[in-house]
Amino acid sequence: MPQITQEEDFPGGLKARTAERAVLDKTRYTNPAVREREWEKIWSRCWLFAGLVSDIPGAGDYFLYELGPESVVVLRDEDGNVGAFYNVCQHRGNRIFSGSPGWVKQVACPYHGWRYHLDGSLAEVPDADRFCPAITAQERSLKTVRVEVWAGLVWLNFDPGAEPLADYLGPIVSRLEPYRFENMLLAKHQTVALDANWKTVRDNFLEQYHVDFIHPQHAGFVDCCNSINTLWPMGHSATVVEGFVTNSRYRVPEEVPEPLRPFLESLGLDPAAFSGRVPEIRAAVQQRKREVGDLLGHDYSPLSDAQLSDVWQYDIFPNTFMTINPEELWIFGPRPHPTDHEKCFLDKFTLQIPAETGCDEAKGLSLHPALCVSRDAERPEHESFTRDDVLAGKHSLTITIDQDIEYLPDMQAGMRSRGFDRAVLNADEVRVQHFHDWVDAWCADD
Ligand code: FES
Ligand SMILES: [Fe+2]
Repeated sequence: MPQITQEEDFPGGLKARTAERAVLDKTRYTNPAVREREWEKIWSRCWLFAGLVSDIPGAGDYFLYELGPESVVVLRDEDGNVGAFYNVCQHRGNRIFSGSPGWVKQVACPYHGWRYHLDGSLAEVPDADRFCPAITAQERSLKTVRVEVWAGLVWLNFDPGAEPLADYLGPIVSRLEPYRFENMLLAKHQTVALDANWKTVRDNFLEQYHVDFIHPQHAGFVDCCNSINTLWPMGHSATVVEGFVTNSRYRVPEEVPEPLRPFLESLGLDPAAFSGRVPEIRAAVQQRKREVGDLLGHDYSPLSDAQLSDVWQYDIFPNTFMTINPEELWIFGPRPHPTDHEKCFLDKFTLQIPAETGCDEAKGLSLHPALCVSRDAERPEHESFTRDDVLAGKHSLTITIDQDIEYLPDMQAGMRSRGFDRAVLNADEVRVQHFHDWVDAWCADD
């Protein structure tokens, strides 16, 4: 079956679609001048997912968000407020913080010892009487960046006049709140350096056209060719595929496909019982998750039956995309390289519902076979690695994402060739089109 695409405009009349296109000139991925325009028009004006509020539970806790040439520190003060500041000392511009996440009693620049309170205000200047005119906190406190916290996620905006985050996200807020991301725990934090433009990465995750070819294992547990896409203003979009089913392009198998077996077994369902009844698995899992959730103390009541079984991906412009199962959330974000248009850093945060309510070893039950993190666990180390590390098997972002990562630098290298001028897109790549329509809209002259 073909994919279905629907458009939802924002209240107030902002339209989901700005233009139709079927080709993408390669220069948008390879021309350094594009990087500068995107920096001014997109990265300096859009809301950006930066990290988790759970990384800064107490006064003095901080994490860094590095984007292009900028470094921002997100810091909790003594009153419990979350602030965001350019990581720049107001004496002579030294970077103050390094290492992330971390904790400080007071903010101190290592160069000449200027000190700032946790709310960013200037606290102390060594040999202050040697400055003429005198230094004032009003003039020389840390420079702020807009920050909002939603669903346990910290969002930044470099534009002081930007609209509130909720207005920027529109209906996505109410669509995602039932998942209660704020109750999930960080299970993995990974960053892979890629020789690819950030939009090359975005494009890959905005279409399922490639799935049959580089992710053949998907045919055994999701129906990727039969998705419903939603397009929103700002450049946001979503896609949903049914889970606990097989690919509708192919004959339904008699036996339960291998990838589904651990999911059934962890819920206490016997795969053998579904021999010859594979199409019945999705509904059985929906029902069984509610039963096991009640047994283990996990509340699924805010979620619909479809949300219990299906995989949603939400794409929040410009660079945040979330793959959402009810028990596990992946948040991705390619960040542009500071100087090279053809490189980026792809972050992946893996969050899970707590093991305390997600599994019970004694009962042999788990709502998802990968659940592994309990509330009192140490924060996982931030893993930073390269595509070569992934290919060598030293690090993995899961089989599926590793398969994507293998191809992304090859896409970038191919687009650079004199033998390539522009990409052509089909109807099932509509979210790629929509994303680039909005890249153009954001980059247009005011
Ligand atoms: S640059 Fe920070 S104290 Fe001088
Ligand atoms: Fe993929």
